[in-house]
Amino acid sequence: MTPAGGGAPATPGAAGSAVGRPRRILLGVCGGVAAYKSADLVRRLRERGHSVRCALTPTAVRFVSPLTLEVLSGHPVFGEEYLEPGRAGDEEHIAAAAWAEVLCIAPGTAHMISTLALGLAPNFLSTLALAFRGPVVVAPAMHSAMWEKPALQENVERLRRSGVTFVGPESGALASGEVGLGRLADAQAIAAACEGSFQSLTLAGLTVLISAGPTQEPIDPVRYLGNRSSGKMGFALAAEAARRGAHTVLVAGPVALATPPGVERIDVRTAREMEEAVRRHAGAADLIVMAAAVADFRPAVYETEKIKRHAGTPEISLVANPDILASLATLAPRALRVGFAAESTLASDEAARKLAAKGAHFLVANDISRSDIGFGAEQNEVTIFGRETDSETLSRRPKSAIASALFDRFEVRLAELSSAAEAGRESGSGRS
Ligand code: PMT
Repeated sequence: MTPAGGGAPATPGAAGSAVGRPRRILLGVCGGVAAYKSADLVRRLRERGHSVRCALTPTAVRFVSPLTLEVLSGHPVFGEEYLEPGRAGDEEHIAAAAWAEVLCIAPGTAHMISTLALGLAPNFLSTLALAFRGPVVVAPAMHSAMWEKPALQENVERLRRSGVTFVGPESGALASGEVGLGRLADAQAIAAACEGSFQSLTLAGLTVLISAGPTQEPIDPVRYLGNRSSGKMGFALAAEAARRGAHTVLVAGPVALATPPGVERIDVRTAREMEEAVRRHAGAADLIVMAAAVADFRPAVYETEKIKRHAGTPEISLVANPDILASLATLAPRALRVGFAAESTLASDEAARKLAAKGAHFLVANDISRSDIGFGAEQNEVTIFGRETDSETLSRRPKSAIASALFDRFEVRLAELSSAAEAGRESGSGRS
């Protein structure tokens, strides 16, 4: 599949067989060139055993024939132009919403995404979406300039926060002839996302410990050594862990961010306070992600009174702070341990050295020399280095989407660690 381009990673069933039981999928088709691909999507969904009904917006009808979708789905299509004669239109969208177990909007246009984000209902499909209570999957398709527009990304974020799953868009040739991020995701990836939307509590029963934000190392009562971390990346990770059902503990340095729903938050200021909080929870954690930008050094002496300017320029000597991540291999040997690396560049051999030095399973590197990602930015682009896996780059996208893609990878590794532990128990050797 296309992890690097923004789509979901390969999942069981992505090659053509359904995950879970067959579902009733309502496919909402919006008006864009990619609407013609909805015909193939209907076929793929039906091949996987699902029942499919289609609802078309008035513009979609100009790109794909309702008759085609009717024949392929085996059902009449929904839409304002196809309301059953003699039946009140305002009942039909309720009936359609009640029939569906999952609403899949593919292709999702910028207009439809923003309409859903604002809770508007200008046409049959958006009215149906408002009335629908189950999982919603959106597969966007549009020109990359439209997809990247901050106003649209804010609406995508808003929908993600309310639980909508986005699959894609992917990079490649666009209808304009240009190449960029904006192509409709592969039909099998969309089908897998629809099936996966019923399995969202994938971390239920597990404990995830995350650190976020900067640390502040006080020099005197008013001054400190700190860094530019806003905490956004770590908070996005915590929100994703909680959304997947994990008991989530977030150790946060000083940041101005609201606690994500369902997250247990511990506020700290210094590296040593962060170390103490992380140590307290590490033993119970199945997964630990150190996204915090921990100060490596602190002033050797804390001046209890504000240092006066007239006393001359002070010399501040520094001492090393504890390396929290490195200590976790001993404290939490059974947990999956992940570090972040704030680097301008990170070569594979350097990443391997850092992975070993930190005793981590994964290192997620972000380029801090760029202003559009990393420190303080709404978006990030990361390269994941693993002990036993090739590096993989996740292209620039909102930090919530990076968090989601990272957890997809962490879950695969957690499952491997769990199987290895099980095998170890069976052979009587235990997991190391
Ligand atoms: O917070 P945002 O504004 O959203 O920005 C996100 C981020 C850029 C801060 C984040 O994605 C990131 O890169 N965090 C790690 C920053 C960092 O401290 O990198 P490092 O290369 O110095 O440290 C490597 C790893 O060791 C990190 O997981 C760090 O948490 C950990 N560490 C570092 C020093 C220390 N004394 N103890 C540690 O545990």
